[in-house]
Amino acid sequence: MTLLTDTGQQQLEIEFCGLPFATPLVLLSGCVGFGEEYTRVSGFSNRDAGAVCLKGTTLEPRLGNPPHRIAETPMGMLNAIGLQNPGVDHVVSAILPALDFTETRFIANVSGSTLEEYAEVTRRFDDSPIDAIEINISCPNVKEGGVAFGNDPDMSARVVEACRRVTQKPLITKLSPNQTDIAENARRCIEAGSDAFAVINTLMGMAIDTNTRKPVIGNNQGGLSGPAIKPIAVLKVHQVYQVCKSHDIPIIGQGGVTSAEDAIEFLVAGASAVGVGTALFYDPLICGKINAGLIAYLQSHGFQHISQLTGSLSLNPIPGTCCTG
Ligand SMILES: Cc1cc2nc3c(=O)[nH]c(=O)nc-3n(C[C@H](O)[C@H](O)[C@H](O)COP(=O)(O)O)c2cc1C
Repeated sequence: MTLLTDTGQQQLEIEFCGLPFATPLVLLSGCVGFGEEYTRVSGFSNRDAGAVCLKGTTLEPRLGNPPHRIAETPMGMLNAIGLQNPGVDHVVSAILPALDFTETRFIANVSGSTLEEYAEVTRRFDDSPIDAIEINISCPNVKEGGVAFGNDPDMSARVVEACRRVTQKPLITKLSPNQTDIAENARRCIEAGSDAFAVINTLMGMAIDTNTRKPVIGNNQGGLSGPAIKPIAVLKVHQVYQVCKSHDIPIIGQGGVTSAEDAIEFLVAGASAVGVGTALFYDPLICGKINAGLIAYLQSHGFQHISQLTGSLSLNPIPGTCCTG
């Protein structure tokens, strides 16, 4: 799909935790299966993304939640898949060998119900060709672990510490927006050894069928993604960046990206890379278009390289305290 010129392509190449990304775009966990999902779609190429993040993986296989698992909402969707996956051993022995590591970087997405499970899944991925490991302490769709860990800075730090002990690979912590102080949580995770952050995971939501007066989603509640959450995600990236910038810790900004302009918002707020998830469901070829839009923006605004945008936000002066009303 990529129609970029060599010069344009070079303007998008970044280094993320020491890994070369061909573009700052990352295909997000849960939206691309185990990296092969869209490769049958004509015109789709994993090369249009700097990295592809695999579906959340646990120690044992999981069947996931009862249906319905997804519901469309205004400007987004709710999902409660419940981490359906074949278990880490299957991913490492049967799925990773079939991926083409010359096309892009592949990132594992690790989940668990206990500290020990997070550490063990991370250890098994450490012993695999995977390029980096994302710890999902923000999944809202499972009873134990997930967001229950991610909303508590102490627990978040303990999960990161436990995973850090068993891998030298880049460790990306995926933060939840469903918490009081995301910046404090980020600070604690950096101390515990996180190399990078993914900001944000989905926000908890509910949809009700007015005929049955029951929740539409089998799990009753689900994670809201898509354009509806973008302004929240941009603010969270801005807040986490305030902690990260002095430590040189990069952020994958995500939540509702559907265009180059959306991606630029995240970069300006402080992200070094930008995730694309829900948008892939209705336009699997969207990354090629976003890459082209990013290059056009750089060229029309006189930037040499995409990294110049990271954290380039210029805040308005506000006299007194902040007011939203
Ligand atoms: C159907 C679906 C499944 C998801 N599964 C996972 C997952 O397994 N692990 C994870 O960390 N995030 C998961 N997510 C969250 C996405 O990776 C992403 O952080 C979120 O959807 C926000 O980005 P978006 O608005 O571009 O989709 C899932 C999202 C969707 C829509």
